[in-house]
Amino acid sequence: MSQLANQIAVVTGAGRGIGRAIALKFAAEGADIAVVSRTAENSEKVAGEIRALGRRAWAFAVDVADPAAVEAAAGKILAEAGKVDILVNNAGVTRDGLLMRMSDADWDAVLNTNLRGAFLVTKAFSRAMLKARTGRIVNISSVIGLIGNAGQCNYAASKAGLIGFTQSLAKEFASRGITANCIAPGFIDTDMTAELNEELKASILKQIPMGKLGAAEDIANAALFLSGTSGRYITGQVLTVDGGMVM
Ligand SMILES: NC(=O)c1ccc[n+]([C@@H]2O[C@H](COP(=O)([O-])OP(=O)(O)OC[C@H]3O[C@@H](n4cnc5c(N)ncnc54)[C@H](O)[C@@H]3O)[C@@H](O)[C@H]2O)c1
Repeated sequence: MSQLANQIAVVTGAGRGIGRAIALKFAAEGADIAVVSRTAENSEKVAGEIRALGRRAWAFAVDVADPAAVEAAAGKILAEAGKVDILVNNAGVTRDGLLMRMSDADWDAVLNTNLRGAFLVTKAFSRAMLKARTGRIVNISSVIGLIGNAGQCNYAASKAGLIGFTQSLAKEFASRGITANCIAPGFIDTDMTAELNEELKASILKQIPMGKLGAAEDIANAALFLSGTSGRYITGQVLTVDGGMVM
C-alpha cells in the first residue's frame, strides 16, 4: 500500500536537487504536492513530473524569505488542496566565505532563506495543522549545522538554528499530534555541491567513511520515513544521512 495515500505535502526548494527528489518520492507514495521554488520554470517542470505519476501538483514561484509571498502562496495552497499533512522546509542557499571577508549581505541572504524562510513557511501552515491535530514537519538542516565548517559561518549558523527551531516546534506541537524533525544531510550530489572545486571534493571524500557522496534519493528516503506512519512516534530528532561522516 502507498505510504502517503491522499496526503497533501508542501515541499520548498522543490524545483531541483533534494527538494525535487523528496517531492517525487512522496508523489510516488500517493501524495499530492505543492511544489515551491524560486522560479516558476523549475516548479512547473517538477509539477509536470508529479502529474505524470498520476498525482495532483501545484507549482509556485515564491521567495520563502518574503512574508507576503509566503502568506499568499499558503492561502492558495490551502484553498486548492483543503489541507496540508506534510511540510518539508528544504529551500536553502550558500554564500561561502571566511568570516573576515563575509559581507553583511551574504550573512543575511543565507539566514533569511535557510532559517527565516522555514519560520515563515511553518507559521503560514501551522494553524491548519494545529486545527487538524495532525501533521509532519521535516526541516532540512545539514551536518554543517552540527559540526561547523570553515568558510560557512552563515550557513552553519542557519542550519544549527534550524535544529533549535525544530526542537522547539516539536515541544510546542507534540500534544496536537504534529511531529517536527530535522534531517542533516552530509555531502549530497546536487547542483549545490557541483560548485565545489575538485580539491575540496577530494578532501570531503576523505571525511566520509562510506567514501562517496550521497544521492538526493537518500535524503528523500529519510524524509519519507519521518513523514509516513513509520515516523509517528519520532519528534524533535536530527537524523544524519551522511555516509557516517558525523558519529
Ligand atoms: N547538497 C548537499 O550536499 C546538502 C547537504 C546538506 C544540506 N543540504 C540542504 O538541502 C537543501 C537542498 O539542497 P540542494 O543541494 O538540493 O540545493 P539546490 O541548490 O540544488 O536546490 C535548492 C532549491 O531551493 C530553492 N530555493 C533557494 N532559495 C530559495 C528561496 N529564497 N525561496 C524559495 N526557494 C528557494 C531553489 O529554487 C532550489 O529549488 C538545502 O537546504 C541545503 O542547504 C544540502
